[in-house]
Amino acid sequence: TTKPITPLTTMTTITTITPITPTTNLTTLSNIFGLEGDVDLQFLLVGGKLMKIKSSSWKKDRMYKLHDDNATIWHESHRIFKRKQTFSIDDVDSVRKGRQSEGLQKHTEAHVEDRCFSIFFKGRRRNLDLVATSVEEARQWVNGLEKIISNMKKLNRQQTSEHWIFNCMRKADKNKDNMMTLKELKHFLRQINIEVDETYAKLLFTKCDTSNSGTLEGSEIKHFYDLLTHREEIDVIYEKHAATGGQMSAQDLLNFLLNEQREVATLEDALRLIEKYELDDSAKHMNHMTKDGFLMYLQQEEGSIFNPAHKKVFQDMSQPINHYFISSSHNTYLMEDQLKGPSSTEAYIKALMKSCRCVELDCWDGAHGEPVIYHGHTLTSKVLFKDVIKAIKEYAFKTSEYPVILSLENHCTLEQQKLMAKHMISILGSALLTSPLEDQMPTAFPSPQELKGRFIIKGKRLNKLDAVFSNTSPGVEDDCVSEEDEAAETNNSKTDTNEQKKSKIKLAKQLSDLVIYCKSVHFSGFEHAKDNQAFYEMSSFKESKAVNLAETAVYYIHFIMHLSRIYPAGSRTTSSNYNPVPLWNAGCQIVALNFQTPSKEMDLNQGRFRSNGLSGYILKPEFQRYAGSEFNPMTLTKGPWIKHKAFHIMVISAQQLPKLNKDKPKSIVDPLVKVEIYGVPADTCSKETRSIENNGFNPMWNETFQFDIQVPELAMLRFLVEDYDATSQNDLIGHYCLPLTSLQNGYRHVPLLTKRGDVIPSAGLFVHLMLLDAK
Ligand SMILES: *[C@@H]1O[C@H](CO)[C@@H](O)[C@H](O)[C@H]1NC(C)=O
Ligand SMILES: *[C@@H]1O[C@H](CO)[C@@H](O)[C@H](O)[C@H]1NC(C)=O
Repeated sequence: TTKPITPLTTMTTITTITPITPTTNLTTLSNIFGLEGDVDLQFLLVGGKLMKIKSSSWKKDRMYKLHDDNATIWHESHRIFKRKQTFSIDDVDSVRKGRQSEGLQKHTEAHVEDRCFSIFFKGRRRNLDLVATSVEEARQWVNGLEKIISNMKKLNRQQTSEHWIFNCMRKADKNKDNMMTLKELKHFLRQINIEVDETYAKLLFTKCDTSNSGTLEGSEIKHFYDLLTHREEIDVIYEKHAATGGQMSAQDLLNFLLNEQREVATLEDALRLIEKYELDDSAKHMNHMTKDGFLMYLQQEEGSIFNPAHKKVFQDMSQPINHYFISSSHNTYLMEDQLKGPSSTEAYIKALMKSCRCVELDCWDGAHGEPVIYHGHTLTSKVLFKDVIKAIKEYAFKTSEYPVILSLENHCTLEQQKLMAKHMISILGSALLTSPLEDQMPTAFPSPQELKGRFIIKGKRLNKLDAVFSNTSPGVEDDCVSEEDEAAETNNSKTDTNEQKKSKIKLAKQLSDLVIYCKSVHFSGFEHAKDNQAFYEMSSFKESKAVNLAETAVYYIHFIMHLSRIYPAGSRTTSSNYNPVPLWNAGCQIVALNFQTPSKEMDLNQGRFRSNGLSGYILKPEFQRYAGSEFNPMTLTKGPWIKHKAFHIMVISAQQLPKLNKDKPKSIVDPLVKVEIYGVPADTCSKETRSIENNGFNPMWNETFQFDIQVPELAMLRFLVEDYDATSQNDLIGHYCLPLTSLQNGYRHVPLLTKRGDVIPSAGLFVHLMLLDAK
């Protein structure tokens, strides 16, 4: 569509705008990074030769260098620096020194270890494996890149936003003369997702071109930037509360925090915010907050929708682990689908870095006596068991220090099982739990606190755990157990009963002995479990069976002394996911999802575990933690779980939504916002705004919605921004999900994430929220 947006009302009040001071100029970011003159950065700007490794036979020298925007890496192909051959530092997830990628381990020799490094990207892009000409150069590349990445992460929202806008300007400035013609300006507006009509573009241009030179340069560009980034809705809010000579005094700010933001705040808090966010020295000196300072505050963590206190571990971590929801992954080794996709240690690293606390290992006999991991009965590639254990050891506790459960599905012969046990003991060392923490037979689980930094093996065990404490009992020998085979279900999904495929295998004593708190047993009904199952004995349920059981949820609640693990049906050969919410409602702890598959279900998982310091453990509500609880999410009888709330939300505006179709420079998004609640069935609900044509830069909706919430402790709020499409499905622009109990009331910014869950640096939503006790 090409309909123009209505000109910004600011055009008429052009002279009254207080300019936001851009902290960047058109040529460099190093000043805002504070890295000017940094030796490693200088090194990157000059660049150098690196050998790119694709396979054992494809190893080629390439020139790489940092572009002088300090944000893009160029690399040479066919002897010239081509603009296309670049990647943006924004897209880099991490840099790893040494042979820390599968490619480098496979295709290079150990002696180049100190010259190697790999660049990992967000999303699906394949990592870049590189070998520098010397150890010193490798060090400089890694240091330089890490400095830029960490500084990029430290930029505040305003700086990110400037960075984004200036990058777009640079792209629009075709002849690189740091001046903008009308034609370049129009191109630029399209880059930043605004469609403007000819007249408006000309008007904007003439307003800013005070020198009448026919181009915008220097301060004119800055003026143009100020007009563009002006936020009308912020003006309205600011003016309402700026009751002290047109500015906000500390007391005015306090009134705002108390009355609009509904925070428990004191004058000290207001003064602290002024100290932290006010940039204007004379205002700061008077303990006043200007509009720019106010916008700055609203864009930082204090002004974010997500309660900053929940960014840290704030829940009681000293309860038994069965009292928590545990972030869990299924078929963790898979990068893609489960019929032919690659298996990789990288997939474990990705899941662990997202604070997944239960990973799965499907173990099979491999060549040369070494056990391997892959999806049995399929063409997925194989990885060595020991390589996976090494990767897990290295990355398990980087995001969260709380315990990691290694869920073993064992199809190996005795010989290779013994090797599995040996590898785990030697690689994981003292972090591996090999005996109960207690010195007599425990009757309940230890807590995440007590198990910090430990690995817990989940698998079959030959005998009861009590045997550990009875030194009179003769040690057991290798014996038969039945092993569930989740992969085998793929083949007969049509004739699918609710049973797992089972095969009798011989279990090695050495492996059995490593199973302490998570012994897998076959589930033979809740009645049987109640009478026969020890606390450390747990079962796995396929999603369909689990959902059936969950519909009579009282059973699960009675079952909470045990852990239960739910996994996706084998028939999901594309690694799609099932809805985890009904299972959390029923109190299941280990609801395993395909982490590798971007999906609504993974958004919900990310939202569920966003809170409590990304520990991967969320304490279940009190009514899901004791055996006699009569909570039933389906029937919702009266009880302490009903905390009736009225939730009001106004979707005000969005900022800098990314362009979806980069190939079609003319296409501009028509955004709409969906607001969804996930929780008990009675609370589950979705509402949406109208779509706004042709404006992804600063669309404004001002639409309000109300939700009635019965069980807030199980509810999650999800935002979805989509590009409206009249003829086909809307396209996803961004999303964000969080527990309802972790939101802050009042005027808030909502970050937006890509389909794969990475933050879109400069984009966001602006909303007003009010979660109140219903009358
Ligand atoms: C939305 O509300 C703000 C603040 O009251 C107002 O300035 C703006 O004009 C409204 N915009 C629309 C599109 O309704
Ligand atoms: C199904 O099973 C057969 C034999 O049991 C096996 O050869 C085949 O690869 C399996 N196919 C899939 C898709 O798992």
